Amino acid sequence: MNSIAVIGAGFVGLTTAACLAELGHNVICSDVNQDRIAQLIHGRIPFFEPDLAPLVAQNMSRGSLRFTSQNSHALQESSIVFICLPTPSLPDGSADTSYIERFLTVNRSDFTERCIIVMKSTVPIGAGNRFEALIARDDCNYVSNPEFLREGRAVHDFQNPDRIVIGSRSREAISSVRNLFKLESVPVVETELSSAEMIKYASNSFLSLKISFINEIALLCEKAQINVHEVARGIGLDTRIGSAFLMPGPGWGGSCFPKDTSELVQYAHSKGLQLRTVEAAIEANHDQKRNIVEKIVSSCDSSCAQVGILGLAFKAGTDDIRESPAIAIAEAIANRGISVFAFDPMVRRLPIRTLPTTFTHVESLERVCAGSDVLAVLTEWPDFSALDPNQVGKLMSRRVVVDARNILQRRAWEEAGFTYIGVGN
Ligand code: UGA
Repeated sequence: MNSIAVIGAGFVGLTTAACLAELGHNVICSDVNQDRIAQLIHGRIPFFEPDLAPLVAQNMSRGSLRFTSQNSHALQESSIVFICLPTPSLPDGSADTSYIERFLTVNRSDFTERCIIVMKSTVPIGAGNRFEALIARDDCNYVSNPEFLREGRAVHDFQNPDRIVIGSRSREAISSVRNLFKLESVPVVETELSSAEMIKYASNSFLSLKISFINEIALLCEKAQINVHEVARGIGLDTRIGSAFLMPGPGWGGSCFPKDTSELVQYAHSKGLQLRTVEAAIEANHDQKRNIVEKIVSSCDSSCAQVGILGLAFKAGTDDIRESPAIAIAEAIANRGISVFAFDPMVRRLPIRTLPTTFTHVESLERVCAGSDVLAVLTEWPDFSALDPNQVGKLMSRRVVVDARNILQRRAWEEAGFTYIGVGN
């Protein structure tokens, strides 16, 4: 009866389960995907997330972290339940909460008496009120505790949060959840239920806005022959602005920013409002991908026959390609009839949806460079910044590099005879 159940063994669920176990709690993590649970029981993490595998292994061997494919089994021994189920985007941009609704409908009677149900998934603003009605258990309390974990840094972010947000009608439930994290010096923001939900969307939207802003400033810097990094440093040192998320690049992607900005815009529409800043950030992000396509295609006049793409993941440190700008850019170039060879050190499989026949996913750096007219860096993997331009140049047809992440040593590439094209510099 003293366990914590974590429902969903995806990136958020597994990180939450392993980190709570590491804090000394007895955790049982459940996922209806039996293959996933079988892999976990055999010590295999079904996706790439640095530092997670050893944490899972240690806590499994201590017995503080267990797995099951039966939600009811996890629930019947737990007084606190973390829901970490997916909320993908529907075609109209709003979030699909059907996994959560199905879970609550099927399992509401499995919650133990006076159970606390904690929502970690990003759910639409106001959804918590609906879920409470669906649970319909007077003895249970519902809490919103949004996650702020970055892929590739999830364990670090869980263990070193900037703040913890906990929203609920019940002060007692807020205090029970707060005590779980054992982080004395971290600010805890105790809120109403819907405020906690809004904080998650507003945070991701603001960060997206910040990146779109610096991408636009980078464009302006290019026109004015100013270095955007000098500008970013100069503005970021103002503590009111902050230096994080001021790296220009090929646009923001991933499973969160595109989905959450679009959900917030939809929500505002449902309230008769237009969030013009967030809508502009989304539009600027689409434009940024188009800008990078143009940079690449126009970098070798009209005779660009083959482009080598370095990086497919939406950012370094992950194998996730959901809403990856790199995929969108590679696809747009291939759609123009140009041969595209793409490599990523972590991405092994691409989606089943049809990519143009001019697109080839290759498994080596040599293959991506061989015969290419232009090389484009779209994900900021350290392996790419360590490339030797002289070696790369020998393999290519022409020496042109588009560094959409500004991670290469410009001078070294120019000295090796490359035309170097960065973003905002
Ligand atoms: C994001 C948030 O940062 C997390 O706090 C949040 O918990 C998570 O979404 C979520 O909602 O679950 P994540 O999607 O893992 O995390 O990725 P970020 O590291 O935030 O990067 C998002 C995108 O912005 C990437 O495409 C990245 O390349 C881009 N980016 C980021 C830039 O182009 N420039 C920057 O300076 C920073």
